[in-house]
Amino acid sequence: MKKIAMIAIVIGLAVFFTAIMAQSDSSNQMAADVITLQEPHIDGGISVEKALLERRSIRSFSDEALTLEEVSLLCWAAQGVTDDKGHRTSPSAMATYPLELYLLAGNVTGLPSGVYHYSPQGHNLTAISEGTKIPELFNSSMGGKEDWRKSAPAVFIVTGVFERMNKIPGQDLSRFVYVEAGTASENLLLEVVSLGLGSTYTAGFDENKTREYLSLESGETPIAVLPVGHKLEAD
Ligand SMILES: Cc1cc2nc3c(=O)[nH]c(=O)nc-3n(C[C@H](O)[C@H](O)[C@H](O)COP(=O)(O)O)c2cc1C
Repeated sequence: MKKIAMIAIVIGLAVFFTAIMAQSDSSNQMAADVITLQEPHIDGGISVEKALLERRSIRSFSDEALTLEEVSLLCWAAQGVTDDKGHRTSPSAMATYPLELYLLAGNVTGLPSGVYHYSPQGHNLTAISEGTKIPELFNSSMGGKEDWRKSAPAVFIVTGVFERMNKIPGQDLSRFVYVEAGTASENLLLEVVSLGLGSTYTAGFDENKTREYLSLESGETPIAVLPVGHKLEAD
């Protein structure tokens, strides 16, 4: 009888820990292709006022690569963890953290071209697939003009998981997820200015292709697309 009870406890613990690990999938800790990002240096930039003054939508990029350090700071600015309770650079309604951040890396020094998912908890990137996908995602022309986003060395994509926010019975708080995507994106845009780079907040994009390239499940929605690169000229 004692032996049976022991086996039951062991099986119970195994099921419990498997469930816990499945729930914390956004920590990326178990994945094989994890790229650890360097700790963000928090005293390298310009004042918030200067960043606000200088922010402008930039739609032309040079051929220059981004560095992994710049990518690290941009991820951190959007969704980085800033205390040991798990709070982030961006506010979140009821601390539900419904956002996910992805990177299409085309020309980033030290990072193979590919599609990556950012883990705030681990401050690392997990490779989802090889190949940048930037030219494929932006290959349709708009009014006869090529999509300028094609030339970006890196593209950040903010998605939302609505069920994390909609936990209160009878209340649809989906709009909060869009609000949060705006705050996270603005953080990233201000960090872009601080790093002397350029970007534009874009919400017009091919949702189906984006879903496919990010391997999104049906409960996760792409909201904002932020191409980042070295400025060629302001427009
Ligand atoms: C919600 C939202 C969606 C936007 N979507 C696009 C877009 O799909 N493509 C684009 O080129 N710019 C897009 N923009 C950028 C605006 O065109 C830009 O912010 C506006 O022209 C003002 O210029 P500024 O950002 O330099 O101040 C978007 C901006 C916002 C706030």
